[in-house]
Amino acid sequence: MGLLIADVIGCITEAFNADKFDKKINLGVGAYRDDKGKPYVLPSVRTAEEKLLHSKLNKEYAGIAGVPQFTKAAALLAYGPNSVPLKEDRIAITQSISGTGALRVGGAFLERFYPGDKKIYVPTPSWANHNAVFKDSGLQVEKYRYYNKDTIGLDFEGVLADIKAAPKGSIFLLHACAHNPTGIDPTEPQWREISNAMKEGGHFAFFDMAYQGFASGDTDKDAFAVRHFINEGHNVALAQSFAKNMGLYGERVGAFSIVCESAEEKKRVDSQLKILVRPMYSNPPVNGARIASEILNDPVLNEQWLAEVKGMADRIITMRALLKKNLEDLGSKHDWSHITSQIGMFAYTGLNPKQMEQLAKEHSVYATKDGRISVAGITTGNVKRLAESIHKVTC
Ligand code: LMR
Repeated sequence: MGLLIADVIGCITEAFNADKFDKKINLGVGAYRDDKGKPYVLPSVRTAEEKLLHSKLNKEYAGIAGVPQFTKAAALLAYGPNSVPLKEDRIAITQSISGTGALRVGGAFLERFYPGDKKIYVPTPSWANHNAVFKDSGLQVEKYRYYNKDTIGLDFEGVLADIKAAPKGSIFLLHACAHNPTGIDPTEPQWREISNAMKEGGHFAFFDMAYQGFASGDTDKDAFAVRHFINEGHNVALAQSFAKNMGLYGERVGAFSIVCESAEEKKRVDSQLKILVRPMYSNPPVNGARIASEILNDPVLNEQWLAEVKGMADRIITMRALLKKNLEDLGSKHDWSHITSQIGMFAYTGLNPKQMEQLAKEHSVYATKDGRISVAGITTGNVKRLAESIHKVTC
């Protein structure tokens, strides 16, 4: 058995921690930081925690599918109050160990029950862990085109062509918003075309929505693709995470859901999900789900949280603009407009692995070799030095 790196992103944090330089910058892991570069616990989360502390809840096991008040509210957040399948009670859902767990449960469910090929098409590139999650679920991972390195934008023709070329009834993994790692999302008209092409091919959409609210600052806007597909009659599967939009990273809060044909089918799917989950981890942890549930179900706290999500998204948008401006002020001859046109936690800079290595070795700026930088790690205090470093390795 060869020695393989289990977690590229974790390795970057290790290299960063080992660096003694006091002005080092970590743009590796996708975790939000405040403008001082510090981890941020949302005030709404603090309030929810205090409420929970005072209510002195016991620590009994949750059911296999988790905390029902949480999963009900999570589905409402994703699918929206006007969702027809939600009103018809035909969305099966289970709490999960954050987004990764939702993808893993979903992968295992599809491996067991999907009637067609046990293959899943993921975009090139995609989140580094998708491949391993689906492989370990027993699915064969195939790729579809997504990124055009010449335009540092979406290869829309490639996306459509690969959807059309895939065997009828294929499973496609779609990033609902804030594509990781590129930060490049299809526009709404492009999503409509993708939905049509998926329908023509009889394909099945599995959405990964790890960043609802983080892309635009608006949780409804970021759910456009998921809701549009459902309005068009797709019965989608969905992985949700509350790591980013509630900053609940280590609490591992998420949900896996699947839109069914009928309320009767939903009951059967719910019970099959429980049969899958029980031997995997018995039942999910309660604390994070209770926090999320407080935030989603208390109207005052919910409003506060939505403003905090927008605050995080806005800070990221401001940092994008500042980085671009600093690069231009330094006289960089490159076109950096993609930094501000991309959205979400990450910018896909277009820098090559050698330049990324130089950034780390010569400038103590750490990020993944594919040129992805976590914009959440940029602050008003480090943006100038970051721009200077990028300028030096690209001029
Ligand atoms: C990332 O892409 O950096 C995050 O989703 C964190 C992770 O676990 O990879």
